[in-house]
Amino acid sequence: MRLKGKVAVVTGGARDIGRAISIKLAQEGAKVVVNYFNSEQDCKETLSAIKEIGGEAIAIKADVTKQEDIDQLVVKTKEAFGDNLHILVNNAGGLFARKTIGEIDEAFYDLVMNVNFKGTVFVTKAFMSMLGNGSSVINVASQAGRDGGGPGSALYASSKGAVMTLTRNWAKELGPKGIRINAVCPGMIATKFHDDFTKDEVRKNVAGNTPLRREGGAGEVADLIAYLASDESSFMTGNNVDINGGLAFS
Ligand code: NAI
Repeated sequence: MRLKGKVAVVTGGARDIGRAISIKLAQEGAKVVVNYFNSEQDCKETLSAIKEIGGEAIAIKADVTKQEDIDQLVVKTKEAFGDNLHILVNNAGGLFARKTIGEIDEAFYDLVMNVNFKGTVFVTKAFMSMLGNGSSVINVASQAGRDGGGPGSALYASSKGAVMTLTRNWAKELGPKGIRINAVCPGMIATKFHDDFTKDEVRKNVAGNTPLRREGGAGEVADLIAYLASDESSFMTGNNVDINGGLAFS
């Protein structure tokens, strides 16, 4: 119970990696706000799973690209769990489609950059007044932000690169207030993300070239995030931490 008495918000917390994070933080004793956008049923299942292990969580619907929704997320978080937030996990994100340079248009640019980057910026900004000495922000970046990503993922990879740079800058700005901010950079993790967008043969190939010879699991990313959320990582800030089975080193 490393997070007992703490309050956490997980964006896109209803399914896959977000679900694993929500459950893990609750298991460690945090009261968790599970934010969802279009995954209401998934969110119900996540809340049930948390209840089953004796944890405490609520669901709040919000689109992280819309300021009004973000403001409501903050208001409802305060109503449920009080004025202090100890852990913020900016997990909401997506590739949405693989597009080559000629296929990219402005609407697609806005979608990818807004969910992955703008959301991280403005959700964090909105919660600033609730974060204090000892709080921890964790951004979910990606290996793609380091290596440029796979085919057709230029905007996704760029948005995650921006998240990684943001993490470093804000670590300098927030450090004097005792607020830590780190990012995780997962390699290939078995979730709907790759079910939707990555061919089986590519997945097998990546797993085969990974020193640990497999894809990662959502729970393994959640374990790392729980560590970064906890006081066990109290001297870590501004890091972009790889979790990729040894596929690449930075
Ligand atoms: P996922 O697609 O299941 O999760 C993304 C979550 O973000 C979903 O719950 C979705 O509803 C939510 N979301 C999307 N747009 C939103 C919006 N406008 N407002 C609020 N929530 C929104 O995929 P997965 O794999 O669980 O991804 C979670 C995070 O991990 C993402 O940031 C993704 O980029 C990142 N990631 C995933 C990797 C993988 O191999 N699966 C590798 C590296 C990073």
